Amino acid sequence: MEILRAAGDVWAPDLDRQLQPEELREVGAGANALVALLGDRIDAELLDAAGAGLQVVANVAVGHDNIDLPAARERGVVVTNTPGVLTDATADLAMALILAVTRRLGEGERLVRSESGWEWGIDFMLGRGIQGQTLGIVGLGAIGSAVARRALGFGMSIAYASRNPAPGEADLGVRRMELDELLATTDVVSLHVPLTNETRHLIDARRLGLMRPAAYLVNTARGPVVDEAALADSLAAGQIAGAGLDVFEAEPTVHPRLLELDNVVLLPHLGSATVETRTAMAVLAARNAVAVLSGEGAITQVP
Ligand code: DGY
Repeated sequence: MEILRAAGDVWAPDLDRQLQPEELREVGAGANALVALLGDRIDAELLDAAGAGLQVVANVAVGHDNIDLPAARERGVVVTNTPGVLTDATADLAMALILAVTRRLGEGERLVRSESGWEWGIDFMLGRGIQGQTLGIVGLGAIGSAVARRALGFGMSIAYASRNPAPGEADLGVRRMELDELLATTDVVSLHVPLTNETRHLIDARRLGLMRPAAYLVNTARGPVVDEAALADSLAAGQIAGAGLDVFEAEPTVHPRLLELDNVVLLPHLGSATVETRTAMAVLAARNAVAVLSGEGAITQVP
């Protein structure tokens, strides 16, 4: 806020609720810059409501599927995001979910809190060790690579699926394969692709069907990359062993059948939720907005 206020007049909402599209159009009218959160839908209508003076939409997120990029381009509006600063926090959370789901942490926590009684036993609440297992990373960008580095430290080997060979492949000691092969052969699959028309429901019923009954799926990318109803079917049928989800198809709603299942760990989109990371994201977004307005050019522009 200080960075923005030093550059001009700022209107900001209370942060305790998301603005509705009509409210966004109302408050955005006449703005030169919009600093948006990932729940704010930036569409043609909003861009038009903002008017010809709008120069930049600075998203406080690395993902930008909430923004109609072609509509922004047509209107000459620069769009920026916050890559880099949230890589470690998101990779940490993906690793946390891998551990949580394979070691049944959610289930264990619920059991203790239920006060229904438990006692240590030789086969009590056994999970699966990840050492020596293979992690399949779908999308080896910055976050996928950071997850790979963490998983190597836990003794996993890494395979990845991605349209093109990743530049860091040799350094990381990772193996590229086709997505279907990765799903059929790896023990834990972690998703790190952006949401686009091509990746919507990338993991659908057919692809879930390729996974092994002992395999786990982790999603810290975007909810719609996975067909949630198909995932619930697959988990309920024991077609896969479990899932760790930080993102959902229609956030904040979670598919009701997922809520009933014990073999899924559910988090409320916490990937970047550390004080340090959210501060860095906010600062980068504010700097992007000011840089465009001052004519210096964006720091991290979405191409
Ligand atoms: C992003 O930046 O896209 C993340 O989802 C925010 O947590």
